[in-house]
Amino acid sequence: MTWGNGVLSENQSDVEGCLTGREYEDDIPARATAGPTSSALFSTVAFRRPHALRSKGSNDCFEDIIGSSGALSEVLDLVRMVAPTNSTALIEGETGTGKELIARAIHGHSTRRERPFVKLNCAAIPLGLLESELFGHERGAFTGAVIRKVGRFEAADRGTLFLDEIGDIPLELQAKLLRVLQEGEFERLGSTQTLRANVRLVAATNRDLAALVSKKRFRSDLYYRLNVFPITLPPLRNRLEDIPPLVLHFVRTYADQMGKQIDEVPAGVMEALVNHFWPGNIRELKNFIERSVILTSGKVLRPPLDSLKRTAETESPGAITLADAEREHIRKTLEQTRWVVAGDDGAAARLGIKRSTLYSRMQKLGISRSDRQAIPA
Ligand SMILES: Nc1ncnc2c1ncn2[C@@H]1O[C@H](COP(=O)(O)OP(=O)(O)OP(=O)(O)O)[C@@H](O)[C@H]1O
Ligand SMILES: [Mg+2]
Repeated sequence: MTWGNGVLSENQSDVEGCLTGREYEDDIPARATAGPTSSALFSTVAFRRPHALRSKGSNDCFEDIIGSSGALSEVLDLVRMVAPTNSTALIEGETGTGKELIARAIHGHSTRRERPFVKLNCAAIPLGLLESELFGHERGAFTGAVIRKVGRFEAADRGTLFLDEIGDIPLELQAKLLRVLQEGEFERLGSTQTLRANVRLVAATNRDLAALVSKKRFRSDLYYRLNVFPITLPPLRNRLEDIPPLVLHFVRTYADQMGKQIDEVPAGVMEALVNHFWPGNIRELKNFIERSVILTSGKVLRPPLDSLKRTAETESPGAITLADAEREHIRKTLEQTRWVVAGDDGAAARLGIKRSTLYSRMQKLGISRSDRQAIPA
């Protein structure tokens, strides 16, 4: 489906809004196929009614989680399944992909939702203080412990404890954490009294925990205890369908906050946003839209696309489109095989694809040998 002009009339109903929202649910050209002609597919997206916008890309029961990609739906299905249990969930994903949002959604859909959601960022707490943050301490337990302190495990009693950046927990504390998770028991620092914890743990990390285990920087027993129900959030560049609804959502949110009326996101702008690599994922997109709304004085969103390009060039020199990466890889392989496509040592075999598939990729990506045609056999 191509993107027609999406103008929402004043008296559209929510249902109609949902139907209009399908514009964003259908296939968006992947980077691999988005060539110079793809701008025709990104015709002007205009909107009038905030409620109609809300229906685009927002998810049943997860109103603050925007996106309509299959990848995000799968994640939300997992959230629905694990939320009502007491099982530990481990959320993995690059920075800014929404791990905390998902952790809160798990709590919000659990029977513990009326109880506290307690968060601790393990990377932000100095090593010496982390143990007392987790388990608490008695007065006089160490120099400076002038009053008794309740730890996060106690504070989260009958609720959810969200341990962010769990990969940063030092080895010596990992054993103690494992004990609470397995036996539900711990002591405040400086106390011999054993306390029991009724806490549901949700952990998150943007590091590869399995790799940390193999480097012996993370205990394997703790890893397996945490990895009961893993949920992996894909980076934004792998769920391009989510970008337009996220853009519209953030435009509406910031325009409302700043008392502005922005009715239109031009097609070329949306195309540029869909094609950006977004190394900082949704957080980066959100901040960029906030800046764009500040800079917009009329009704049409005017984002500083040049700064986006500059950031892409300076911060992520490797941030090329998938199509460019694929083109480069195929070309190199063809050069290695002296443009022989078929046969045991031909480019198709080396790339692990069928000869016909390679031909169609070459055609699509515009790969040809200037002085000689690819040799078919
Ligand atoms: N699907 C989404 N819909 C709307 N907002 C989102 C979505 N995903 C993430 N966000 C927003 O993006 C920002 C970053 O999300 P979040 O803090 O959950 O990411 P994170 O994975 O925990 O990042 P980090 O690893 O850097 O801690 C937040 O403001 C969050 O509300
Ligand atoms: Mg986070």
